[in-house]
Amino acid sequence: MNRFTLPAAARIAAVETDNYRTKTFVLDMRLDAVPGQFVMAWLPRFDEKPFSLVNADPVTLMITAVGPFTRLVHDLEVGDRLWLRGSFGSGFCVAEKQKRLALVGGGYGVAPLLWLARTQLDIAETITPIIGARTACDLLYTDRFDALAAPAPLLATEDGSRGLRGRVTDALAPLLERGEIDGIFACGPHGMLAALEPLGRQHGVPCQLSWEAYMRCAIGICGACEHEGAVLCLDGPVLSAG
Ligand SMILES: Cc1cc2nc3c(=O)[nH]c(=O)nc-3n(C[C@H](O)[C@H](O)[C@H](O)COP(=O)(O)OP(=O)(O)OC[C@H]3O[C@@H](n4cnc5c(N)ncnc54)[C@H](O)[C@@H]3O)c2cc1C
Ligand code: FES
Repeated sequence: MNRFTLPAAARIAAVETDNYRTKTFVLDMRLDAVPGQFVMAWLPRFDEKPFSLVNADPVTLMITAVGPFTRLVHDLEVGDRLWLRGSFGSGFCVAEKQKRLALVGGGYGVAPLLWLARTQLDIAETITPIIGARTACDLLYTDRFDALAAPAPLLATEDGSRGLRGRVTDALAPLLERGEIDGIFACGPHGMLAALEPLGRQHGVPCQLSWEAYMRCAIGICGACEHEGAVLCLDGPVLSAG
């Protein structure tokens, strides 16, 4: 297994379209990593950006086209090269006593949670995936979670076009009130994570939250990823709360 401190070239082995602006890229590379860790993807003479690992063997990335770098990656095809550094950061850590897990993903935040779910299938008593997005078209990986030997994911959309009308916290709150969850593992936009933290605390359920930040060096030198005193590329992106 590998961990690259300098960019190493990988070839794209498969590309799958997930929705109108998201694709999953399978690369011909294997990495030593755990769910929640990330890689830096580099296009020479252009830019380098962080992405969560959907899988490390083979390396799989889910990439939503939101700006210049991600749009350029979307133009790549099978056989094209993408350079990767990593894996970096801390992953999710499920304590032995945590047996009933809520995996909460917003937007492309579901990317590391699918892998986490797979690693917990034979260990956890229950895995409850909760996937949120603005509209039905923005939901990601619902089919991949459906295919797991775990309950179908609870879905929440802000416009009510699929699943519960509302946010992931609205889907999670009743489970917490019924005492059905021992640990919350989440990745998504800052607002979502900021809402989950007090909800978990209110019910005495610890959270592990994967925070997003601008990253440049990914090795703790530049300070671009500072978040409330933590250097997210080293101390995170997954931070414990509660
Ligand atoms: C640890 C980590 C894991 C990530 N995992 C994934 C993933 O699995 N899939 C995925 O599609 N994206 C992921 N991202 C985000 C991804 O790095 C950005 O979307 C990408 O950098 C956008 O580059 P761009 O040039 O296409 O767009 P840009 O023009 O750089 O950005 C487009 C928009 O997104 C905002 N934005 C970009 N990067 C960030 C950031 N890091 N934090 C907050 N806002 C930002 C910008 O403000 C702008 O509004 C992750 C980020 C981090 C830090
Ligand atoms: S990205 Fe440079 S310190 Fe974290």
